[in-house]
Amino acid sequence: MARITVVGGTGLIGGKVMARLRSAGHEARAASPSTGVDLVTGEGLDDALAGSSVVIDVSKPRTYDPDAVSRHFDRAARNLAGAETRAGVIHHVALSAVGTERVPQSIPFYRAKAHGEAILRDSGVPFSIVRATQFFEFGAQIGAQARTGGTDDARVADAEVQPIAGDDVAAVLAGLADEAPSGGAAEIAGPDIMPLADFVSRCLAATGDGRTVVADPGALYFGAVIERDELLPGDDAWIAPTRLGEWLA
Ligand SMILES: NC(=O)c1ccc[n+]([C@@H]2O[C@H](COP(=O)([O-])OP(=O)(O)OC[C@H]3O[C@@H](n4cnc5c(N)ncnc54)[C@H](OP(=O)(O)O)[C@@H]3O)[C@@H](O)[C@H]2O)c1
Repeated sequence: MARITVVGGTGLIGGKVMARLRSAGHEARAASPSTGVDLVTGEGLDDALAGSSVVIDVSKPRTYDPDAVSRHFDRAARNLAGAETRAGVIHHVALSAVGTERVPQSIPFYRAKAHGEAILRDSGVPFSIVRATQFFEFGAQIGAQARTGGTDDARVADAEVQPIAGDDVAAVLAGLADEAPSGGAAEIAGPDIMPLADFVSRCLAATGDGRTVVADPGALYFGAVIERDELLPGDDAWIAPTRLGEWLA
């Protein structure tokens, strides 16, 4: 049994990771603003990490504002690495997104995340990075944020995605707590490639939102125009078992 701090442990993926760690017999603690821990200011971090040998970071800023996101990932990475060094953490597991290292110039969120990862790599703290594709749980959110055209449709970037179930992501992260740090990044994705418009349309429909979802080459993906294959993982990605249809059902 290890003592593990899950930064962002109150969030979507964090909650699933916490449950898996506890059922595997680990002592898991959630650290986030709701539990009095703030990565940006450093408040509560030393106490949250005391006695932990492993940290799993699945945190995310509460906003997509580019300046706030940029500040968040810079401060968060520096504060967390400092606290981990003081606490003697032997493995930092970080959740990232497929494409973060390839498209940092275009998507502000990815640029900020890539900067944070560079700080982690230089920190001296042993680490493993997991880059996931879009979570099934995120599909409806992309649709909700999609700008509507003159009609009642939702317009999303003309790109392909290979989305993954949040539970499958959590299983990989929790499993890594028992492994040695890889010192690198691995990609994980769901079993099926599909147009982003189809993914969003199926997720919206499951929430009772019957809008037509249209692929629009001019539509932005989190602030950027993207290439059709830019969000897809490479050939070496680990493929998770859960299909979108099963999950929606
Ligand atoms: N969405 C996707 O499809 C996708 C794909 C690949 C990778 N990712 C990555 O997956 C990760 C987790 O996503 P998620 O959907 O689980 O996020 P989420 O549900 O929004 O949870 C975010 C967590 O971060 C915490 N947090 C926010 N600001 C913080 C701060 N200043 N200090 C410490 N903790 C803070 C939140 O705490 P409170 O509960 O207290 O607010 C919450 O626990 C993110 O890093 C995201 O970039 C997402």
